[in-house]
Amino acid sequence: MNLGNAILPSTLLGILPVGILLYTQGSLKPAELTLCMILSLSIIAPVTWFTVAVNDWKSVEYAIKDVNQLLGLPELSDVSENVSLHTFEVELKGVSFAYNEADGDILHGIDLKLPEGSFTALVGPSGGGKSTVARLIARFWDVREGTVSIGGTDLGKIPLSQLSQLVSFVAQDNFLFNCSLLENIRLGRPAASDDEVLAAARAAQCEEFIARLEHGWETPAGEAGGKLSGGERQRIAIARAILKDAPIVILDEATAFTDPENEDKLQHSIVALTKGKTLLVIAHRLSTIKNADQIVLLDKGKIAAKGTQKELLETSPLYRDMWQAHIGARSWAANSGRKGETAHV
Ligand SMILES: Nc1ncnc2c1ncn2[C@@H]1O[C@H](COP(=O)(O)OP(=O)(O)OP(=O)(O)O)[C@@H](O)[C@H]1O
Ligand SMILES: [Mg+2]
Repeated sequence: MNLGNAILPSTLLGILPVGILLYTQGSLKPAELTLCMILSLSIIAPVTWFTVAVNDWKSVEYAIKDVNQLLGLPELSDVSENVSLHTFEVELKGVSFAYNEADGDILHGIDLKLPEGSFTALVGPSGGGKSTVARLIARFWDVREGTVSIGGTDLGKIPLSQLSQLVSFVAQDNFLFNCSLLENIRLGRPAASDDEVLAAARAAQCEEFIARLEHGWETPAGEAGGKLSGGERQRIAIARAILKDAPIVILDEATAFTDPENEDKLQHSIVALTKGKTLLVIAHRLSTIKNADQIVLLDKGKIAAKGTQKELLETSPLYRDMWQAHIGARSWAANSGRKGETAHV
């Protein structure tokens, strides 16, 4: 295209000398020479557009390939009749799961119960399958073996639309649409009024960073939310979930945003989100889950230990190591920030 763009506009450079030569030799009349010059100028635009079209055609080809790939994926089965649920207890029984059969199972025989209104924390080494468990509860995939149920009803028997009303999922990395921040939050409950959206945003501690933006609430979030930091994106996602007010909340803590100020704000917004809900928090910072009703330690796709913080510290060497590492990291961070002071965890 660049070559074309460079050469095409110089058609006159060739036409003019040759035309004048032919004219002086008498084989071209003035009218014909003028016509040739006009034609040579007007051919530039169409030929340039042609090179652009060739380029566009290639992008269309790639887009169609992607779309076909997506449409070719097997669909999750869905049912149409809403079911009535009496509790919002979540239970996984003997769940095994593989993303690809070739790679083998990521989860092996997971048994896990989240009683209604309880706070469960899921911890463990990176890649252990924590996010995978969360995605299975939201039914992003179907399990290979075993069952996942809410209130005793298998997820496969709950319509996807009803399930999406039951479960709020704040993921590790949240996708925002390139519309205003206000509209991004409103996605949690499209019928919500502006006041309700603002109240949710306030509860999720979004107001402070939104006030700093030039266009405030009307700021577009950028492609996939690219204009906000990861921590800010997560707070927007929490505001969305607060607005949605679903009885089951899954929170996949982001690993990357560990600065204490952000963490403190996130904690406040999480408290606002989770009051009275069946709550599953995937935590990377163990201090945030001290008060959990149960802590589940997931290692290499298996549940390695289960219990309260106190019980795990006594029974699980892996948890003890993680706790020591966590305390070490905290006191290191605190000491490098304020020399001479002791860290409190
Ligand atoms: N979409 C996917 N397709 C294929 N494999 C995946 C996919 N998502 C995760 N995995 C694999 O599944 C395993 C478990 O991943 P998962 O995201 O559940 O770990 P995690 O415990 O959440 O880790 P982290 O603490 O780093 O978030 C990893 O080995 C990962 O490579
Ligand atoms: Mg994860």
